[in-house]
Amino acid sequence: MSFAALWESLLPLGRDAGTGGYRRFSWTPADAECRQWFFTTAAERALSAGADRNGNLWAWWDAAWTDPGAGPAKAVVTGSHLDSVPDGGAYDGPLGVVTAFAAIDLLRKSGKAPVRPLGVAAFCEEEGARFGVACLGSRLLAGAIEPARARALTDSGGVTFAEAMTAAGHDPAALGPEPGLVAGIGVYVELHIEQGRALADLHAAIGVAERIWPHGRWRLTFTGRADHAGTTRLGDRRDPMLAAAATILAARGAAARHGALATVGKLTVDPGAVNAISSSVTAWLDARAPDEARLHAVVEDVLAQARTVAVAHGVDCGHAQESVTPAVDFDAALRDRMVATLAAAGIRAPVLPTGAGHDAGVLAPQVPAGMLFVRNPTGVSHSPAEHAEPADCAAGVTALAAVLEDLACR
Ligand code: GLV
Ligand code: MN
Ligand code: MN
Repeated sequence: MSFAALWESLLPLGRDAGTGGYRRFSWTPADAECRQWFFTTAAERALSAGADRNGNLWAWWDAAWTDPGAGPAKAVVTGSHLDSVPDGGAYDGPLGVVTAFAAIDLLRKSGKAPVRPLGVAAFCEEEGARFGVACLGSRLLAGAIEPARARALTDSGGVTFAEAMTAAGHDPAALGPEPGLVAGIGVYVELHIEQGRALADLHAAIGVAERIWPHGRWRLTFTGRADHAGTTRLGDRRDPMLAAAATILAARGAAARHGALATVGKLTVDPGAVNAISSSVTAWLDARAPDEARLHAVVEDVLAQARTVAVAHGVDCGHAQESVTPAVDFDAALRDRMVATLAAAGIRAPVLPTGAGHDAGVLAPQVPAGMLFVRNPTGVSHSPAEHAEPADCAAGVTALAAVLEDLACR
């Protein structure tokens, strides 16, 4: 099957007809459809597929390789994720999974076969869109989050990760690290749409990741006093919305001062009435920076200003860190090897850093990991407008197949 046909088979799943964006949230019916698509796609290729105890999906070229830790040779794994942010684009995650299957098709068509285990992975809850912690499936796999904490994470309706997983037919009691599986992976390569315009500016279809900026998420809660919008004098109000608004503006200023990025893209307002001063506002701060010192500085700056404006408006301010991912420098030998392999295949692949998080970054401390990027002409991502040209997706399949041939077939 061609890349285009495979891509088309996934495209309708979880897409909102109104916005054209994707709502593929973990353990929802849309997620179940994506999981079924993964199993069907694997079965069509006679790959041996299953879910691990953390809800991550795996498909192996050879049924004898479903337990890579058990064999003498370490596995080569490629893949990405199928879940999305709210109204996300089609490519962030799925491009890496579809390309993985298409690259296997291409290897087979060219008569190539792996001499060590070769698998495709699709990690669970990469975006953290439903339960708040990014890369939850790979963090659980790698032992980078306590299973009890993961089980207790809640979505916006108060449903826990454990409850959602149970409803989807998976046992949350089994969540936890799989050191044998991780140790059995010799290399992980994730292909991903670029979430910026660097490749477009460099006139290159394919890039290789250098590093991921350190980044994290903080939840800020401003608690004031609900009151009547038409009768409460301005001086009598304890309006948490004002503190949240001032903090959002402060985040922008702090980011500019520290050479970092800071974004508030999600707010919840209680009780959310047009004619009432709110009782509380929760704001989620996403912060990223080229280094840990600047990340720490920008977050401290925003939190300090949040406390100051909260006092000024007579509201309480609390905060909780939801997830933090340290800087990741991808394996330099793997990166150079991929650049050389691609060059030998006639593909010029510039090396780029990124501010976006990925499962490859979570696995990188334990597994030699690397990433390929596919050009995004506008750079837009986490939006229905996210796009990659078909010719660049085809270049991605060629590039990934070349890398897998080098890593797994020799
Ligand atoms: C993942 O897409 C991220 O938020 O960086
Ligand atoms: Mn994403
Ligand atoms: Mn992604």
